[in-house]
Amino acid sequence: AHMSATSSLLTVSPDRARRIFDDIEEQFRLDRDALIKITEQFLTDFRLGLSEYNQAMAMIPTFVTGVPNGTETGTFLALDLGGTNLRVCEVQLLGNHQFHLRQQKYKVSEALKTGEASALFDYLADSVDAFLTEIGSESPTMPPTSDPFTSSPSLLDMTQQPSIPLGLTFSFPVEQTALDQGKILTWTKGFSAKNAVGHDVVQLLQDAFNRKHLHVRCVALVNDTVGALLSRAYSAGGCILGSIFGTGTNGAYLERVENIKKLGDSPARQKGGFMVVNTEWGGFNNSRTVLPTTSFDNKLDRESINPRLQAFEKFISGMYLGEITRNVLLSLIDAAPRPLLFNGKSSDDLNRHYGLDTAVMSEIEEAWEVGREDPLSGHSDAPKVNGVRPDWQFMHFTDVDKLPHEDVVRLERIRGIITQRMGISASDVSLTDAAIVRWAVSLVAERAAKLSGCAVAAVLVQTERARIGGGFVPDEERIIIGVDGSLIQHYPNFGTKLRDSIRSLVGAEVEQRVDIGLAKDGSGVGGQFAIYLRLDYRS
Ligand code: GLC
Repeated sequence: AHMSATSSLLTVSPDRARRIFDDIEEQFRLDRDALIKITEQFLTDFRLGLSEYNQAMAMIPTFVTGVPNGTETGTFLALDLGGTNLRVCEVQLLGNHQFHLRQQKYKVSEALKTGEASALFDYLADSVDAFLTEIGSESPTMPPTSDPFTSSPSLLDMTQQPSIPLGLTFSFPVEQTALDQGKILTWTKGFSAKNAVGHDVVQLLQDAFNRKHLHVRCVALVNDTVGALLSRAYSAGGCILGSIFGTGTNGAYLERVENIKKLGDSPARQKGGFMVVNTEWGGFNNSRTVLPTTSFDNKLDRESINPRLQAFEKFISGMYLGEITRNVLLSLIDAAPRPLLFNGKSSDDLNRHYGLDTAVMSEIEEAWEVGREDPLSGHSDAPKVNGVRPDWQFMHFTDVDKLPHEDVVRLERIRGIITQRMGISASDVSLTDAAIVRWAVSLVAERAAKLSGCAVAAVLVQTERARIGGGFVPDEERIIIGVDGSLIQHYPNFGTKLRDSIRSLVGAEVEQRVDIGLAKDGSGVGGQFAIYLRLDYRS
């Protein structure tokens, strides 16, 4: 009798459990009206950033005033410091939208990310040195091109020159004052190296080359989004937006110079025409007035190394999605009086800050989608109401035994992933738990894709190719966009959900014309293309 009294005390009524799940779902909900409001705020913030310096959305003029068309030729060296990788590449543009690339990746340790900037830049210089040594030991492969303006010798020949020109792709906010000059505004994506912010990034790198007596000269600087834009333009013959959905998120687009009011009457502004603007949209709505913030986002932000900054990025990018999901799962594990997940047991992985990698979310979604005809339907038999899945999630956790066999197989697979990749022991993972995890993962990812759509739609509207709410038909048959990053490349259905969001915001007519393609090796190709814009380095 005593036992049963205790257990009835600990029992949560299904209604109560349901309310907890519904509350979480409600926090992550984003209907079309909310998306429209966010897109409108984007446009307001674009204009603000174009008019004034020091705005949350930095809208950085890049001094890149044209995009390639695919006929360019030449061989150059590029260095790419992104969120996760450091790469040195030699890119040979063949002039027919194609290129050859030789590259070497190097790891950037946590110590380098958070130590002294000089140590980080020394490491960059060492990597370039190592790469050149390797290339130099190989036989020359690049035939000289015929066009005297754009032809360049192979790197092997370049090593005979006084200095080898290098394009730097630096995937952090830099307030550029020229194509080869700009101060680091702030670190993002977990970097915090000291004595870098406020310093000229080209100078920091050049000083490191000089310290090592390397005959390399950094002649151009681009953000990775600008690299993506330039690279897609080279492959596709044009491009209006380059965007990254990876460790971080950001976009760069072609803006009319007359709209970049903060350039005042500088020579660049007087020239007119177009200039690529690096939006740094990861910093959109840091005040979180329109972003649908949940308690899980607030926890992430509070514990991050840059609280109250990069708000939009923290909803969207690969660095953070796993962490938001971890927070959701922990809240269910900790639910009282009765746990709602894993018998209330966590693991070392789940207890560790950033202990749940976004790649694990990818695996779970993949396992759930395997063998489905309609990849986006959560449940193969679920009837759709107004094109929306009905209450399928909850049905999945409560009535697992009523599920069709294939779904049980999928949940078994997810249970395997949970035990292996989250370190929860198999005896604590029921099929219902697997369904709950999959539900949490999809809530977080779906919100990310929808919000990403707002950013892209805002650029379409800003560049006069769409109107919010639809009903506008642009002149162009194809609106070309270049994308890069782990999320867009590897996260199941991220691209499809992104398109859905764009369509709901600007209508099917515009969305159908949007040609979203991978900006192949954007950071390498783009970085080296920027060198073209600085051919005066030879003088
Ligand atoms: C972060 C950086 C930005 C970069 C983006 C994608 O948002 O601030 O410069 O483009 O990550 O790598």
